[in-house]
Amino acid sequence: MLGQNRDVNIVVGVTGGIAAYKTVHLVRLLTKGGHDVTVVPTADALRFVGLPTWEAISRHPVTTSVHEDVARVRHVALGQAADLVIVAPATANSIAKITAGLADDLLGTTLLATEAPVLIAPAMHAEMWRNRATQANIATLRERGVHLVGPADGELAGGDSGPGRMSEPEEIFAAAQALLAPGDLAGVRVVVSAGGTREPIDPVRFLGNRSSGRQGAALAAEAAARGAEVTLVSANISGDVLADVRHPSIRVVGVGSAIQLAEVMKREAAESDVIVMAAAVADYRPVAVSERKLTKEGGGVPAIELIENEDVVAALASARRPGQLVVGFAAETPEDEAELLARARGKQQRKGVDLLVVNEVGWERGFESAENAVHILGPGGAVAATVSGSKRAVASAIWDAIGRER
Ligand code: CTP
Repeated sequence: MLGQNRDVNIVVGVTGGIAAYKTVHLVRLLTKGGHDVTVVPTADALRFVGLPTWEAISRHPVTTSVHEDVARVRHVALGQAADLVIVAPATANSIAKITAGLADDLLGTTLLATEAPVLIAPAMHAEMWRNRATQANIATLRERGVHLVGPADGELAGGDSGPGRMSEPEEIFAAAQALLAPGDLAGVRVVVSAGGTREPIDPVRFLGNRSSGRQGAALAAEAAARGAEVTLVSANISGDVLADVRHPSIRVVGVGSAIQLAEVMKREAAESDVIVMAAAVADYRPVAVSERKLTKEGGGVPAIELIENEDVVAALASARRPGQLVVGFAAETPEDEAELLARARGKQQRKGVDLLVVNEVGWERGFESAENAVHILGPGGAVAATVSGSKRAVASAIWDAIGRER
């Protein structure tokens, strides 16, 4: 594992907060873990923990200045050579500076010059953490793919308590190890469809369904976290749900109707190793789409004639190439578990998919909720796993099951 390799270069940025003393222990954990650690404090950080401590603990020279070691272009060299940059503690001020891309010291230039993952451990008073400016900065950093650990809820300097306490060194160390370990989906190309299609009736109306896209979005996020290159084909997923899963390895392609979804999925499937069809695709669409809004003027109740849509997942499964894996979903409203599994097995066979994830839905369950409960059927219809919990936890179990089949 990369995490055990002596050649792993980690830059630990330390900014001016009292929690800097805890970062001494973090640097110790990292060096003990076999990593090569360079500490880059800000000038303010040195008021809390002095330079000799950082040099002794990291066994490397430490400076805050971009004007030292100029011959080796240290201000960018550190960032270029880093496999991971950690900022702990990250004060509200330093978070604002990172967000703005300021480069007025060695930590700023290092962060701008690096393409390595960046992990920040915020530490500040609860009011400062909750402040809209800080929250907007955090949202921007997340959107750029910066990883966060904490802050924890607990006792703060001065006797206050609330969110803002820097995570413990052990927790930051574990987050760092997770970022350094190559994911089990590294190099795997994945396409996930999610959301629900809308079948137009006229320019303002459609036939749709209640799928929020949360489970599919969680599948995309989990795949990206495990190292996959992900395309999320989003059928009418809300901006809020999409905002939660922003990741540098997730490309989002928006679609509206079943016909559009089919076209995009066929194109994306050609480039993918795993196809996951979590979208709720309308089985039927109106035969005719009115160019103008239907009105009551003519009198009478309009009859909308429907025509069947193509079964997209069945088409993808029958066209799959060797080594490609196709995962379908089934949403059922059964009388009991036996009927749920029987219907799911029938669907798995009819559609020809390798794995089928089945969940029970109803008026109160399955759709907008953050939780889900599913059975995962493996090839042949055997139950490979039964899981319930957050949609992210369910996504994790689904990728584990996919991993066992690849
Ligand atoms: N699906 C699809 N194309 C369709 C309908 C469904 O690709 N036209 C896919 C869904 O994305 C899902 C799976 O088929 O992966 C099962 O969807 P579901 O709605 O449960 O099944 P249906 O085929 O619609 O069967 P029924 O409505 O009869 O239960």
